[in-house]
Amino acid sequence: MPVISDPAQFNEDDLYVDLRAALELPLFLKCEGFNFAGSIKLKAANEMVAAAERDGLLRPGSVLVESSSGNLGVALSVIAASRGYRFLCVTDSRCNLPTIRLMEALGSQVHVIDEPDVHGGYLGARLSYVRALCASDDRYVWLDQYHNHGNWRAHYRTTAPAIARRFPHLDVLFVGAGTTGTLMGCARFFWQWRRRVRIVAVDSVGSVSFGQAPGPRLIPGLGASVPPALLDESYVDELVRVEESDAVHVCRRLAARGFLFGGSTGTVVSGASQWLARYGRRDLTAVAIAPDLGERYLDTVYREGWPEDALEAERPAEMARLA
Ligand SMILES: Cc1ncc(COP(=O)(O)O)c(C=O)c1O
Repeated sequence: MPVISDPAQFNEDDLYVDLRAALELPLFLKCEGFNFAGSIKLKAANEMVAAAERDGLLRPGSVLVESSSGNLGVALSVIAASRGYRFLCVTDSRCNLPTIRLMEALGSQVHVIDEPDVHGGYLGARLSYVRALCASDDRYVWLDQYHNHGNWRAHYRTTAPAIARRFPHLDVLFVGAGTTGTLMGCARFFWQWRRRVRIVAVDSVGSVSFGQAPGPRLIPGLGASVPPALLDESYVDELVRVEESDAVHVCRRLAARGFLFGGSTGTVVSGASQWLARYGRRDLTAVAIAPDLGERYLDTVYREGWPEDALEAERPAEMARLA
């Protein structure tokens, strides 16, 4: 039983759900939501803050600022609160309300961007805001998860070795792509590991990360409206793209079996299920990464009528942008 004095010291790294019972799927789901930030992003936040402190970028009086769809913001809120930094999270209107409340409860300030940029993306608008802020006052320190190598290194050092220890005969790993920190850290580790593991990236339909056309997306965390700078496709063996409606369907099937996961877990499991069905062999050792749990998605993924009603509500703004 661990005893801790700093919230970042605890992270459950060895919990897997065998999805054969719940979904008749030969897949082990690595659960990353059991820590004080409730998501996999605690690892990236830890690594990036430690590096910034080591490099002398973060000093007493610094104000951390970051663009986040929510989970990194919560993780940085936890770390900022425990180390005495101020933190401003720049997010957008797709961020869940409970996530915003959570950051505020941890003492952070949250700025919500509710207008996409001229290309129709929220991420571009968030990044412009952060850049302007940093130019205005040099106390702001932007870790920049989209370019920070600590983002993927965290998974190279922790997530991937934990999977390799537990599954020495791993054949295939499914990883959702947001900033691609998790994907690149795991891909680089397994590239060098003594056994070749097939790395399958899972992306949302409507995300531009792998060169596809942009489209409406509502599940935060996974997918991007700006190509991810950390992505090196030469490490990725295959790509599976998932409709958000399929991701929601998988989340609700898992919930019906008592497993309440976040929206991006539905995307990754749906992608893995498509891939495994195509591959047709049931004797592979397959693992997928579940970035967070479902409580933050009760008003979205787990609400009857979502995402159809939310997409309907977005349509006038979309039409105005295209006009
Ligand atoms: C819920 C959720 N899923 C998936 C991801 C994707 O992780 P990464 O940014 O490492 O690609 C994130 C990242 O914020 C997330 O919050």
